[in-house]
Amino acid sequence: MSKKGLYTKTFGCQMNVYDSQRMGDVLKPLGFADTESPDGAELILINTCHIREKAAEKLFSELGRYRQIKEARERDGERTLIAVAGCVAQAEGEEILRRAPFVDIVVGPQTYHRLPEMVSRLGTDRAPQVDLDFAPEAKFDQLPANEANGPTAFLSIQEGCDKFCTFCVVPYTRGAEYSRPLADVIAEARGLALGGVREVTLLGQNVNAYHGDADGRSANFAELIRRVADIDGIERIRYTTSHPIDMDDDLIAVHGELAQLMPFLHLPVQSGSDSMLARMNRHHKIDLYRGIVDKLLRARPDLKLSTDFIVGFPGETDAEFQATLSFAREMGFVQAYCFKYSARPGTPAAILPGQLSEAIKSERLAALQQVLETNQLVFNESCVDRVMPILFDRPGRKPGQMIGRSPYMQPVHAMVPDHAFGDILDVRIVSARTISLGGELAVPILGSNPSVTHRGANV
Ligand code: SAH
Ligand code: SF4
Ligand code: F3S
Repeated sequence: MSKKGLYTKTFGCQMNVYDSQRMGDVLKPLGFADTESPDGAELILINTCHIREKAAEKLFSELGRYRQIKEARERDGERTLIAVAGCVAQAEGEEILRRAPFVDIVVGPQTYHRLPEMVSRLGTDRAPQVDLDFAPEAKFDQLPANEANGPTAFLSIQEGCDKFCTFCVVPYTRGAEYSRPLADVIAEARGLALGGVREVTLLGQNVNAYHGDADGRSANFAELIRRVADIDGIERIRYTTSHPIDMDDDLIAVHGELAQLMPFLHLPVQSGSDSMLARMNRHHKIDLYRGIVDKLLRARPDLKLSTDFIVGFPGETDAEFQATLSFAREMGFVQAYCFKYSARPGTPAAILPGQLSEAIKSERLAALQQVLETNQLVFNESCVDRVMPILFDRPGRKPGQMIGRSPYMQPVHAMVPDHAFGDILDVRIVSARTISLGGELAVPILGSNPSVTHRGANV
């Protein structure tokens, strides 16, 4: 059977990256194989994100491009199906079909295991197929094995959210919190390890709220991590995204116990002001966050943090914003994502009084980003002359160069022979920029390129 081209474009969070891979897996038995370009593809799949207005608008600009491809192929007597998946599909399914009637499939994040039926039905019936049910357990039960594709892999263990931060669409697009059974997660992790995966990132919108069934009792996230660490071949474990109120003592203890658990934690705080956190319905105060970080550092002194901030939430005063700036300085986050508040239809904050102007949001974003970038550069510069274990998983731009990840997720560029792809090698850091490091192998390996000894690797 000749292969049918599947072109996938993914927006949004890592969970969407995982979902896109899984959609590719469910479509494989129908003869679909990934293709690099949408031109000539039989199926164009857009996996969307609804988190901020800009993220959602990207869908419609992409769709205009794909419509032209579809129409051009139709003139040649060929058929291209366009499928919209993910959180915009879930939130705005009807609107998508109204604005873009040439879309063939609208499928939400919980029902993409049904894509093959939807595609097959389009063979006989040309009416658009829409499936926006909420049933995560059914989805995971029906997905085929998650095949390893390189030395690193994502593994979704938990979906949805019951926290209802007032700014956030996730509880509406991904539904109620659901944890996969422990045995299913371990089986998927074992399969990945057998396929050569060395680093696994456990994913969930509230990953540390995990409470999966384990033969009738409930297993917590700490137990799950310990079990994953027992699997032969898994040398690195990461997880994202966590909520501060679910960082319990057992989970903090795991950070001190397991060398495989990387000393880098993404723990979104959103704001440095208690009054702001209350209006955001974050369920935590700044002191709770500080206390967790203290405990984490006692358990794992080399741990570093990254976070998310929102600036310009409705009614954010100058004093509240200053509290965020000083908290960012105090905590010295080594990486952080900072977003302008974006009003999302249907969320409580969208109708709060005191919506701020774009100008104020931009000004605050720039001020906060300056602090965060300084933190990041200071940390990156402190890594120079250190030897770090780097997992090389991507080719670099220059011949002979590869890019790997440090324990702290910093991209590290170094001259490394091709056969070392997927290896974890000791690298001496020789240069630092805000977002990346340059390094050289601490111990040159057989077959290595002579230029590894050349200082000042290109970053
Ligand atoms: N589940 C995670 C993050 C979900 S979304 C958590 O609980 O933290 C990723 C980030 O997007 C959030 O941490 C937040 O900083 C940002 N975000 C969410 N909704 C937003 C909105 N309406 N406007 C701007 N940023 C938003
Ligand atoms: Fe959104 Fe808050 Fe849930 Fe995170 S915890 S997904 S920010 S509602
Ligand atoms: Fe976006 Fe949905 Fe993820 S809204 S951030 S793709 S959960």
